[in-house]
Amino acid sequence: VTVPHRVVDVALGSRRYDILIGRALLPQCARLIAARFGTARIGIVTDANVAAHHLDHVEAALKAAGLHAGSIILPAGEATKGFAQLGPLTERVLELGLERQDLLLALGGGVIGDITGFAASIVRRGIRFVQVPTTLLAQVDSSVGGKTGINTPQGKNLVGTFHQPSLVLADIDVLDTLPIRELRAGYAEVVKYGLLGDRPFYDWLDRHGSALIAGDKDLRAQAVETACLMKAGIVARDETETGERALLNLGHTFGHALEAWAGYSGRLLHGEAVSIGMCLAFSLSEQLTLCPSGTAATVQAHLAKHGLPTRIAEVPTAPDGRRPDVATLQHLMAQDKKVVSGRQTLILARRLGEAFISRDVPPSTLADFLGQMLDA
Ligand SMILES: NC(=O)c1ccc[n+]([C@@H]2O[C@H](COP(=O)([O-])OP(=O)(O)OC[C@H]3O[C@@H](n4cnc5c(N)ncnc54)[C@H](O)[C@@H]3O)[C@@H](O)[C@H]2O)c1
Ligand SMILES: [Zn+2]
Repeated sequence: VTVPHRVVDVALGSRRYDILIGRALLPQCARLIAARFGTARIGIVTDANVAAHHLDHVEAALKAAGLHAGSIILPAGEATKGFAQLGPLTERVLELGLERQDLLLALGGGVIGDITGFAASIVRRGIRFVQVPTTLLAQVDSSVGGKTGINTPQGKNLVGTFHQPSLVLADIDVLDTLPIRELRAGYAEVVKYGLLGDRPFYDWLDRHGSALIAGDKDLRAQAVETACLMKAGIVARDETETGERALLNLGHTFGHALEAWAGYSGRLLHGEAVSIGMCLAFSLSEQLTLCPSGTAATVQAHLAKHGLPTRIAEVPTAPDGRRPDVATLQHLMAQDKKVVSGRQTLILARRLGEAFISRDVPPSTLADFLGQMLDA
């Protein structure tokens, strides 16, 4: 059976690709891939959680079409995104005998997408890959745009490449098995698109966010499509982030610092950190009188209503009882890839639905602001 789906075009010239969004894409994956890539052999990379729910369906579809080269199952969790897993992964891909015209298929969330994309970009100096995102976060963000990479002790995503996928299959049905906390964390990245550049989308989310989180599949598909359309447009105009693409980091400079402080531990998920970070970005914008007063409260109320943390105080305390402090947070923020000649790049807002790139906030102002927010 063919089930209709939405298609978003990522217009990158010779590296252009489609994002397909809809239901029952997993069972149709062999046909959808073969229609574009013929008889390429396909190696699946996934994690243990996703494998338990969805690997059988993908394997069965690919095997029936004679396309399956093998499956590689990595441990679940952010810690997988590191050199310790990358080495063995590349060797196992080589053992599958994949050639440059063959495909890796990343079946999972952002962790699997990022490490699989990175492996695909370096094995045989680059093989093609397909993203099959299984978290809301991956469907609206990490599977699109070609940023790949791993973490190091020095920070998140500091080693990686730009390597665009050849196809993205965002199957809304796979979100049924996603834990609710992960779904809410992904929702924070959905809201990000409205806050940074699309006020009508934010208003739509304000009306429909609760039903979307509760499980409405049409709303989910519509939100994934809106987010992907916006990201695809930004990526097509600024693939390697020399300008506009930085807007997608709204809430992320603060968020990454909080994530690093929490040690990527599961105490604070990426989307939860981004939720707090977006509130901080709007609060700072308001304090600097860049943005009308009351905007930060609106953002905070929306995120809190959908079960997301909005204040630094909500980050669970470390096992040793330590709380974050200004110096630590500012040091972690300075690890950001977007620091240019020592000046912190921040994404601030002029109003709800309009973000901009700022390099004008002096370190002392930022320190004062963080001090207040730590006490808030
Ligand atoms: N490349 C980019 O542009 C980009 C953008 C945003 C985020 N990221 C990266 O993405 C990562 C976060 O991605 P994530 O939130 O998807 O995390 P994740 O990949 O760790 O997935 C979250 C959890 O959900 C489980 N899971 C995934 N799909 C499931 C399903 N359908 N049913 C049940 N369980 C499922 C996973 O096993 C994992 O435990 C971070 O490393 C972040 O840096 C990358
Ligand atoms: Zn993010």
